[in-house]
Amino acid sequence: MDWGIRNRLSRIFQPQDGRTLMLAVDHGYFLGPTTRLEDPRATITPLLPYADAIMLTRGILQTCVDPTVTVPVVLRVSGGATIVGRDLANETITTSVRDAVRLNVSAVALSIFVGSDYEHQTLANLARLIDEATPYGIPVLAVTAVGKELEKRDARYLALACRVAAELGAHFVKTYYCEDFEKVVGGCPVPIVIAGGPKLDSDMDVLRLAYEAIQGGAAGVDMGRNIWQHDHPVAMIRAIRAIVHEGATPQQAYELLRDLIHAQAPVGRV
Ligand code: 5RP
Repeated sequence: MDWGIRNRLSRIFQPQDGRTLMLAVDHGYFLGPTTRLEDPRATITPLLPYADAIMLTRGILQTCVDPTVTVPVVLRVSGGATIVGRDLANETITTSVRDAVRLNVSAVALSIFVGSDYEHQTLANLARLIDEATPYGIPVLAVTAVGKELEKRDARYLALACRVAAELGAHFVKTYYCEDFEKVVGGCPVPIVIAGGPKLDSDMDVLRLAYEAIQGGAAGVDMGRNIWQHDHPVAMIRAIRAIVHEGATPQQAYELLRDLIHAQAPVGRV
């Protein structure tokens, strides 16, 4: 693999264990000012010290993140559809590789919607992005998006989507954790990171999700809502970090989470 691609990937995937904790804050590109991401700077800033990389759009990077930060940027470069529009899958490339270079990013990210009416268009977007980014040494993250069809999160569908992304040349892939996740990982020759999806019912559910994904062969997580929609987002990202990088079990991470929340609480309150 090209030196520039490897160098950038090693900023995202920590060389000591090959894993990553990416913080996803790109949701506004189709959801608008979604809950607890209304003021991106306020949400993002306290979490940055605990993220190996941050995934976001050009507009939020330029307006809400200080250019002196050292955290690697994974720039979302696809979009063009919203939650109130006709079809979330109808995406195009929204940011040029030239602009990604200007912003000094460590990777670019684009969604593919396999099985949708826009399958061909989004796969062609991915192929074009890889052709354009690779000569600059910029890795491409393919996001196997499911839009509103959350029921698509099964191993057969996700294995297909991840494999197709890798076949087109994606350097890493983002997908969902699912039953038989090993089959998804086993069929994909590039590293996989998992999304968290909508906020889960309990803290333990989130920690188990991260743990089982790592045990199942994921190279990390790229999580958003289950971190920053938590009442204690810093404690939650640190607990997930313990799972990704320190081999913590869900129970150990849960105890860390409770300790951190307790330590933050004003005297007399938990
Ligand atoms: C949307 C995305 C999001 O970044 C992704 O879904 C991760 O965030 P969350 O953990 O909230 O699902 O790529 O297409």
